This record gives sequence, structure tokens and C-alpha cells, in this order.
Amino acid sequence: MQRIPDIQEFVVDPQPGLIDWVKNELILRDPYVPVRADMTKWNLHEDEQLSTLRHVLEENYADYVLAEAWAATYKRGDYAEGHTHEGWGWSFVWYIQSCGSCSPLIFPDTQHPWLGPLWYHEPWQGTVLVFPSEIVHYVPPHTCQHDRIVISGNLRKK
Ligand SMILES: [Fe+2]
Ligand SMILES: [Zn+2]
Repeated sequence: MQRIPDIQEFVVDPQPGLIDWVKNELILRDPYVPVRADMTKWNLHEDEQLSTLRHVLEENYADYVLAEAWAATYKRGDYAEGHTHEGWGWSFVWYIQSCGSCSPLIFPDTQHPWLGPLWYHEPWQGTVLVFPSEIVHYVPPHTCQHDRIVISGNLRKK
């Protein structure tokens, strides 16, 4: 069921070398963030590796700039608790290593949970999902044997 009108999807094929670059950037788990997976710092948007992604985002959201980006590597059992990116304009997730069976991104209907999620998104590799920052979302525990690797971030109004 899909009841959020403002979600947009784009396709950006992850370029060769992107995954290795992310793996070199990985740091330890941060117990103070809702994502229970290995994460990088928040400044990946400064790197050339994200120039195509930046171009696609800033072309489609002309009043916004890519202001933060990080990567998360979900191993089997890893998940993200329900959270928002309140205070930003748009948020996104780019699936750089995933399959159609990987854990989806789920937007629950917190006011009407009996109606089912507002939206859920199958994480096909190369998809970029852009959503309003204030919307609650989560990732159920990852069940695939392979890592589910994403780059996420926020756009700020100019
Ligand atoms: Fe998030
Ligand atoms: Zn998978």
C-alpha cells in the first residue's frame, strides 16, 4: 500500500569501485543512532564518488543541495529502528548493493497502523528513493547472506 504522494524514485547505477570505496570508509557502529549497522561518517557527499548522485538529486530538487551523505552496511540481522530526519528537506537512500529479497524500507502509518504501511520499497540495486525528511521509516532485520549496502543522506533548502 502506497499513500505518500511525495516519494520519487530514480535510477543511478553504482559505478565500478564504489563498493570498495565505501568498505574503506567504514567505521564502527554508533550506539547513538537508530541504524544498527556498520556506518561511515556523515560527510561522504564531499567526495567525487557521489558526483553522479549529487547531479541527479540537485537537478530534480533545484532548490536543494546535497548536505549530508553516509553509507551503511547491513549484515544479516542488522536493522534500522523507526526514525525521521526531521529538520532537513528531503532525505534519500541509494541502494548500491542489494537484491529484491533484501529487507525493504518501510514507512509505517503511525496514526493508522491497522491500515498497513504508507509505503514499502523493495531495495533493487541502483534505485534512489527520495522521501520527505519528516516521515518515520525503518528497516526490518536483514535476512540475506550478502551485505545490504546503502548510501543515505539529506538535502537542505538553499
Ligand atoms: Fe533514515
Ligand atoms: Zn538481498
